[in-house]
Amino acid sequence: MTASTSPFNLETCARPNILKLVPYRCARDDYKDDGTNILLDANENAYGPSLPLTASSTAETAGLNRYPDPHQHVLKSAFCALRNTNPTKPLTPENLFLGVGSDEAIDALLRCFCTPGKDKILTCPPTYGMYSVSAQVNDIEVVKVDLNLESGNLELRPDSINEALSQDANIKVAYICSPGNPTGALVDPEAVKKVLAHPTWNGVVVVDEAYVDFAPEGSSLAPWVVDYPNLVVMQTLSKAFGLAGIRLGAAFTSPPIAQLLNNLKAPYSISTPTSSLAYTALSEAGLVIKSENVAKILSQRARLLQELPNVPGIGRFLGGFDANFILVEILDRPGGKPSNTVALAAYKGLAETRGVVVRFRGGENGCFGCLRMTVGTEDENGRLLERLREILGGIYSASA
Ligand SMILES: Cc1ncc(COP(=O)(O)O)c(C=O)c1O
Repeated sequence: MTASTSPFNLETCARPNILKLVPYRCARDDYKDDGTNILLDANENAYGPSLPLTASSTAETAGLNRYPDPHQHVLKSAFCALRNTNPTKPLTPENLFLGVGSDEAIDALLRCFCTPGKDKILTCPPTYGMYSVSAQVNDIEVVKVDLNLESGNLELRPDSINEALSQDANIKVAYICSPGNPTGALVDPEAVKKVLAHPTWNGVVVVDEAYVDFAPEGSSLAPWVVDYPNLVVMQTLSKAFGLAGIRLGAAFTSPPIAQLLNNLKAPYSISTPTSSLAYTALSEAGLVIKSENVAKILSQRARLLQELPNVPGIGRFLGGFDANFILVEILDRPGGKPSNTVALAAYKGLAETRGVVVRFRGGENGCFGCLRMTVGTEDENGRLLERLREILGGIYSASA
């Protein structure tokens, strides 16, 4: 479905107050900080940052008394270069929203399209918890269409999603997580295409690709945003790039949606240190390090997939293997059936007596008895395997 045939209409889908929003403007929208101007427009401190300086920190802290660039064109160009695979229809900075982590993009999308107390979002449990948290904060109802809970693969059910979208015109945003959290499975692009091809729904499809760099090369749907007016693809530097501490997320989308998101965000939310570190991570040298680290994680993921089944009491792996974590069942006894009691006991025992923190996911739809384990370093994974064996052995012998 193309822009001309899509039922998506930004003018009727976005909130009227957001459409009318006049974005915050500063004098530096008109007069850039090119290093030659005397900047007396933003009530900054011309004497510099209150930081004890050493020779090595001077360069890093220079300029921190000034507000950051509100538009981040240079950083946006670097993000586009990362995802541009279609030279005839390239992504440009006009396709981008940058936020304080992709968590900010999740929230900004809600606030852009959903009128509190009236509109709804759609999510596909088991999924990332922030979609619902943001919805609740904004007084927006969540319509849930579970992944396929019958199979262990936890696939998206596009026909059921489309049915829900047909039944409720107040659903404005559908969040699809690919690779999923906690499923670790890449969503079939054809399933996303099916939702995008909904013949009547006037809403926005958001694909959250926080873990896409752990999936096979070329898996990102970001290049699709030039073809679909109502697609948003979110990414982050928190995972494969190892920069969760700087808080930088990106949303690729059509220029009109990117414009609305940029209009509603706080003007200086991307700090100068964040921007500069992100730019370095997206440089050629940064991308080499990212690829090396991803390769190590993938090799460690393969090791866990091979060695975990040798630990007595480990059941099936659920979902898929496209992220930097795995979702695995813990059994009531070796060779038995999944057990939330044992999974919870193992989770607590690992954290409280063995210094290994994983995530209990047994309360999520389709994840009964499951722990989610992030792939760590070689040494960390060795300790995880050893301590999990100890903990489960202790639990089983106590209940024997
Ligand atoms: C699926 C998913 N989306 C988004 C995020 C948030 O990422 P960020 O650190 O960019 O806010 C996470 C974090 O765990 C996640 O699992």
